Amino acid sequence: MPPISSESSFVLLDELKQNTLEEVFDKVNELYGQEKITREEVNKITDALVTLNQVFLKQEKANFTIRQATLADVDSLMEMIEYWAKKGQNLPRKRNDIIRGIQTFAVCVKDKQVVGCACLYVYDSGLAEIRSLGVSPVIQRQGQGRAIVNYLLKRAAKMYIDRVFVLTRSPEFFSRVGFQKTVIEALPEKILKDCENCPNKDKCDEVAYIYNMKDHK
Ligand SMILES: CC(C)(COP(=O)(O)OP(=O)(O)OC[C@H]1O[C@@H](n2cnc3c(N)ncnc32)[C@H](O)[C@@H]1OP(=O)(O)O)[C@@H](O)C(=O)NCCC(=O)NCCS
Repeated sequence: MPPISSESSFVLLDELKQNTLEEVFDKVNELYGQEKITREEVNKITDALVTLNQVFLKQEKANFTIRQATLADVDSLMEMIEYWAKKGQNLPRKRNDIIRGIQTFAVCVKDKQVVGCACLYVYDSGLAEIRSLGVSPVIQRQGQGRAIVNYLLKRAAKMYIDRVFVLTRSPEFFSRVGFQKTVIEALPEKILKDCENCPNKDKCDEVAYIYNMKDHK
């Protein structure tokens, strides 16, 4: 941050330790209110704070990786899936199912913690489904969801899967990450497998979204 003035900056620097950028901004406005600094100085500091915030955010966002899940991740996967299942955003999964399907899962890891997951369930006709997608509630909207989906789409492309679909209550997210709205009836394999036996068959509130590989070549 550029010095406010030789006199006030010393006072401030000591005062500002441990403060958030918002608190620094409040203090700067306070100084301006007391006519200790000029509007021009406030503007310069604000610009610097915005830049700092962008740099920190970029680092935060970049500070995670997506990788294949392993059996060591099963507890974390259970926790994440149960959390979003209780909120009605995902279907619950049995521990045994997760273990048996571990090779279908990808996890997002940040500071050695699993903070997101999803799996790619493959049907038998060039069609796959993204299931159990969830990101930790404390780090939403920082790019983890998109990164997990992209990882699974790359995996699908390597397997020569033509289309990847999802049934979701988060349509805005899937449209932001390149999926197109479709109708469940356009997904015959899915209907045959799950929907026919689903108790919510006649009151389904999920929306179908699809990603066609050929549209992204
Ligand atoms: C849906 C979910 C996985 C998104 O993960 P995320 O890490 O927060 O999303 P990202 O930061 O990668 O978002 C990617 C883009 O989608 C947008 N987005 C994410 N959630 C959104 C929402 N609810 N409404 C509108 N836009 C949204 C982001 O703003 C971002 O937009 P951009 O193109 O400007 O960058 C996450 O919100 C979640 O865990 N939800 C609960 C479980 C769930 O609904 N799973 C899906 C079941 S199919």
